[in-house]
Amino acid sequence: MHKVIDLKVLYFGTPVVLIGSRNEDGSSNLMPMSSAWWLNQSCVLGLGDSSQTAANLRREGECVLNLPSSAQVDAVDALALLTANPHIPEYRQRQGYRHERRKFEAAGLTEVPGELVRAPRAAECPVQLECRVASTTALTGNRCTAFEVTVVRAHVEESLLVPGSDHYVDPVGWDPLIMKFCEFFGDGQRLSPSRLAEGWQMPGRLPAPAAV
Ligand SMILES: Cc1cc2nc3c(=O)[nH]c(=O)nc-3n(C[C@H](O)[C@H](O)[C@H](O)COP(=O)(O)O)c2cc1C
Repeated sequence: MHKVIDLKVLYFGTPVVLIGSRNEDGSSNLMPMSSAWWLNQSCVLGLGDSSQTAANLRREGECVLNLPSSAQVDAVDALALLTANPHIPEYRQRQGYRHERRKFEAAGLTEVPGELVRAPRAAECPVQLECRVASTTALTGNRCTAFEVTVVRAHVEESLLVPGSDHYVDPVGWDPLIMKFCEFFGDGQRLSPSRLAEGWQMPGRLPAPAAV
């Protein structure tokens, strides 16, 4: 039997992306996000307009989509409540957000330059997609924008390639970090507790996994 309800959050499960971009002062930025989908060589990214990354993409017209595996959950979680935008709206301050420009250091990730774009890659991420912005579309009613980007160069960890192929990622070997209703999952299992879920005061039912 189905129940008609007022769903507060519609995050049913998508891969996490760390968007590398350049701030206006030339420093690097790294934003965790998960409203992303791909078609052919295009990707559409849903970004809140108050994020520094949205401003960077509008100004620079390029970015790197760094895809973490589930092993990088701690690096992603360390970035969860950080913003490079010095102007933090009050509701975000209440959620625990704070200003930080040294995102690579905060995540413990290594910055490497893009080859075709100025935006930074995260060396530890097994997949890094250099992209150029193709179009932007304002989403209705909620101060968000859909950025359509085109992949211009893909860097993929060799061990993830289908043996004998330079064109295909092995779907069995690739274990993306998945964000589902603000919680982190890898290989179908819930991972460590999520600061995003805590900041959003998500009513999770599962106890946090035991520390190892
Ligand atoms: C796992 C995860 C997924 C997120 N997904 C999105 C998203 O899809 N779109 C978005 O605008 N913000 C998303 N956020 C929130 C941004 O990371 C947050 O607004 C961040 O402060 C933006 O950084 P910036 O202002 O330096 O660009 C997500 C955060 C986490 C931890």
